[in-house]
Amino acid sequence: MDDQKEVTVQNYKGWEDFYNIEKSDKLDFFMRDGRMIDILFAQQFDRSFLDSMCRLATQIRRMALTKVGARKLSSLLSHKRAMLYFVQPSTRTFISFLNACHILGLKISEIRGTTTSSEVKGESQEDTIRTFASYVDLIIIRHPEAGFAEKTAWILNQNKLPVAVINGGSGPDQHPTQALLDIYTLEQSFRNIGGLDGKKIAMVGDLKRGRTVRSLSYLMRNYKDITLYFVSPEIFQMKDDIKSFLKKHRIEFHETDDFAGVMPHVDAIYMTRIQKEYSEAPAQESDIYPNFHFTKEHLAVIQSHCIVLHPLPRRYEIEVEVDKDPRAVYWKQERNGMWMRTALISYIFGVADKIAVEFK
Ligand code: CP
Repeated sequence: MDDQKEVTVQNYKGWEDFYNIEKSDKLDFFMRDGRMIDILFAQQFDRSFLDSMCRLATQIRRMALTKVGARKLSSLLSHKRAMLYFVQPSTRTFISFLNACHILGLKISEIRGTTTSSEVKGESQEDTIRTFASYVDLIIIRHPEAGFAEKTAWILNQNKLPVAVINGGSGPDQHPTQALLDIYTLEQSFRNIGGLDGKKIAMVGDLKRGRTVRSLSYLMRNYKDITLYFVSPEIFQMKDDIKSFLKKHRIEFHETDDFAGVMPHVDAIYMTRIQKEYSEAPAQESDIYPNFHFTKEHLAVIQSHCIVLHPLPRRYEIEVEVDKDPRAVYWKQERNGMWMRTALISYIFGVADKIAVEFK
């Protein structure tokens, strides 16, 4: 059915020019009443925001443990509605956002593929999201196209529609809420050894097409004395835009294909999957690069405080036997996604203070 679909292409004058503006020069466009309303790319976050989100995520996690606390949380946004528009596969981003909405009492609608929306009749994707805006207060989008979440926010803001937009993953470009939960996991794991400042982090695998490592790299600007090691096969090296950003902000980074050589020296290892879905010739592309896998033997090589992360889903990058080691934090990282996304939605709708007051 998809093959026969006739897509309506609409020309939004001004969009291309806006998209090409430097991200740091258009932050105000996505703010209202002094708060970010649309969460689109990692360059929107500064240190004070990141610290406050980590604090809030922990407060929500603690509050949700009790019936009384959970009831209070679920009353905060029971008058709001959210749309989950996920037209690219997802398990954990979708479910963690869904549960974040449940925790805060939001009512949910969802579309999980263009074949079940009127896009199958040829409705444009822009008219589709404008339609959502007729019904809900928040649209959470996962889309294969870089910039589509930003375009959604741009269209809605241009039309003065008071609907917040969150980017839940935009093609191989960015995954800003994953970066938030990654920061939360790193900060939590290092809370007894000075937090994330001063740490050495290895990012391993498909750095070229992995959106999580791109968003996380942008956030390193907010931390002191970070050193990054980009560890990948040559064909999957980190793209120049990220490297230019790091140079501009004087963040030390190294590129290598010697994973075994880097491992003993770092405080965190962030594993990633080969993103074969973006390959032009998937049948010819391998997704098994054993030199970039983390095995149980490596547990003896890394430092006693070194944590192993992965945004998941994984394939062969981490042996399951590693899961039992307390330094393997990827399942915790996954769960942190729900708390961090709950914190983010609370912030967007201005109810974070009502949570913080419970801890005064
Ligand atoms: N980490 C992540 O984005 O996972 P999903 O693709 O399952 O949402």
